[in-house]
Amino acid sequence: MTKPTDETRASRRRFLTAAAGLAAAGVSAPAALADPKNLPPNVADWTRALGEGVGQRPYGAPSKYEKDVVRRTVSWLTATPESSVSFTPLHQLDGIITPNGLCFERHHGGVAEIDPSDYRLMIHGLVDKPLIFTLDDLKRLPRVNKIYFLECAANSGMEWRGAQLNGCQYTHGMVHCVQYTGVPLKILLAQAGVKPNATWLLAEGGDAAAMTRSLPIAKALDDCLVAYRMNGEMLRPEQGYPARLVVPGWEGNLWVKWLRRLKLGDAPWFTREETGKYTDLMENGKARQFTWVMDAKSVITAPSPQAPVKQKGFLTITGLAWSGRGSVARVDVSLDGGRNWKTARIDGPVIDKACVRFYYELDWNGEPLLLQSRAIDSTGYVQPSKDALRKVRGVNSIYHNNGIQTWAVKPDGEVENVEVG
Ligand code: MTE
Ligand code: CO
Repeated sequence: MTKPTDETRASRRRFLTAAAGLAAAGVSAPAALADPKNLPPNVADWTRALGEGVGQRPYGAPSKYEKDVVRRTVSWLTATPESSVSFTPLHQLDGIITPNGLCFERHHGGVAEIDPSDYRLMIHGLVDKPLIFTLDDLKRLPRVNKIYFLECAANSGMEWRGAQLNGCQYTHGMVHCVQYTGVPLKILLAQAGVKPNATWLLAEGGDAAAMTRSLPIAKALDDCLVAYRMNGEMLRPEQGYPARLVVPGWEGNLWVKWLRRLKLGDAPWFTREETGKYTDLMENGKARQFTWVMDAKSVITAPSPQAPVKQKGFLTITGLAWSGRGSVARVDVSLDGGRNWKTARIDGPVIDKACVRFYYELDWNGEPLLLQSRAIDSTGYVQPSKDALRKVRGVNSIYHNNGIQTWAVKPDGEVENVEVG
């Protein structure tokens, strides 16, 4: 098996025709020929002998036949693996919950390794009583379970100037959606006693990057959590073990991992991540700052470049939609590049600031398709076309690209990242 990697640029597409290249980019290989001795009416190998006993895998892992379902990186995207990103294999998943081991990772200083007995969370600044919490302190407090998406503001950031990366893992894979267990931040802040003049909160990570962001106090007191579990188990090291900030609907950069310190103040701190980075450069040279909310967005996860159509006939189109402003009210699908729209079927839970799963079924006879999806959220906001977004934002931005994605499906079932004018 080739190491999961990155031959993903549209210009390198020819490399992808080799089977090894296909596997490396996460494209599902043609189904291997079945072994006739295992097929009806024969009794299959796995029925003829006892299987492996219990207890062989104290912590279970996916079937060995699923070894291509992995996070992938794009080698030319970042200079070092410590300040880099790996992408969620969206094209290989279904439902709304991302398995813990497949959640994309974004670190600016590598993964901090924290012994939970050494973990401390400090709350100070404009408070009546500065406090230091241990992990056990956090676990003793009242807790809640909440399902939220987390999207990096830089998701789809490579696509501002045109179709670039050939696969939804790379164009949209900086999003995940899990169930968090944690303490509402307002409970922690109430224990410290927020002074009336405290209007901002600084969150700082304990990693080598000491990721630091300012957050308005209204958001902190609204729905933020200090989470220590994801999907029932403790946070993975990559996701901030043992505790991270959860800032529902807002850009992933604010979700400080390995959370070390919360400071109350009366003004933002203007840290690196909210001045030089995570601001949106406009055409006139000015930059928008504090654009925290992730607007409604959607993507068709299959078919997509890494998940081509295998045969004609009944075809299920599926994807994910989310909005940082509320819930997803509707998802539309277009087969002709946005000329005509049909309502997709949402299946599974519809939760505020979480992903929804949508489906659109059709009979495909091999005609070329220009697949698009658009999300409409509970505020009535409609996901814009890329051109409509560029009219307002220009092309200098990296962050907050929620434009409509187009996949061209060819008669042979291959799928390509394209744009329609
Ligand atoms: N927190 C710390 N301490 N250090 C970091 O580098 N990266 C941020 C945020 N929190 C980061 C951090 C960014 S840019 C994003 S998008 C999310 O974490 C990614 O979270 P994930 O790795 O769990 O997907
Ligand atoms: Co990010």
